[in-house]
Amino acid sequence: MRWVVGNWKMHTTPSEAKQLARQLWRLLKSACIGPEVGLRVVVCPPFTSLEAVRRVLARTRLEWGAQTCHEEVQGAYTGEISARMLSELGCTLVLVGHSERRRYAAETDERIAQKLFRVVEFGMHAVLCVGETWHERERGQTVTVLEQQLERGLAAVTQALWPQVLIAYEPVWAIGTGVTALPEQIAEAHTQIRQILHRLGAPESVPILYGGSVSAAAVSNIITQPEVHGVLVGGASLRSGEFNAIVRTVAAHRCS
Ligand code: PGA
Repeated sequence: MRWVVGNWKMHTTPSEAKQLARQLWRLLKSACIGPEVGLRVVVCPPFTSLEAVRRVLARTRLEWGAQTCHEEVQGAYTGEISARMLSELGCTLVLVGHSERRRYAAETDERIAQKLFRVVEFGMHAVLCVGETWHERERGQTVTVLEQQLERGLAAVTQALWPQVLIAYEPVWAIGTGVTALPEQIAEAHTQIRQILHRLGAPESVPILYGGSVSAAAVSNIITQPEVHGVLVGGASLRSGEFNAIVRTVAAHRCS
C-alpha cells in the first residue's frame, strides 16, 4: 500500500476547506486511487473544517483525517478533541507527534504514545511523526533521536495493532523550509527506521512515509527510494494542482 497524506495545518476556514476539497476531488476523480488499488489519499484539515470536508468527500475515494487528538477519551479537558470524536466524523487517520506539536504544544514521547493508542483503539490509522533537528543531525545524533522517538512513541502498540500504525520520517530542518532532504538521506533514514521497527517487533508491512518540503518536482526522487511507502505533504497539499500532481506521480510508481 502507498499513501499520500496532506497536512493542511492551521489553514482554511470551513468554507475555504469545502472549496479546496471540491477542487481536489474534481482533479483526482479520474486518478487510480483507493485501498483496492493500493493507494490511499488522505487530507487532514483543521478540526473546524472536518465536517465541511466530510460532506464533500463522503462517497468519494479520498479520505480525511486529523492533525492530532487528546490522549483521553473524554473528560474535563477544555479545548481538546478526542479520538472518539474524530472517529464519529469519519476520520480514517490521525497524525501524532508532529514536530510542530512537539515544539509548540510541548508534547512528550509519553503523551504521544498514549495518543497513538487512542487513535488505533478507535479504529483509525495513526501516523507517528519522527525526525531530527539540524543541530542533532550535525552532531551525529540522528539514529539516537529516531530510536528514542520510535521506542517511546510506539510503547503501547501490541501485535494486533500494527496494521493501523504508520511512521512518517520528517526531518525538522526540512519542514516548511523548501529544503527537501536528499534522496540518499531519505534512503538512509528510512532504512534505519526499518531496522529499529524490526527490533521493536513490527511487521515489514508498517509503512514509512517521508515528509518535509515535498513538492511535485521532488516527489519522484523521493518515492523511488527504498523503504519509502508514501509522502506526508504540508504546504503543497494546499495547492490543488500540485497535490494532484503529487498523487499522480505516486500512483504511477506504486507497486504493492
Ligand atoms: P511541508 O510540511 O511539506 O510544508 O514541509 C510537512 C509537514 O509538516 O508535515
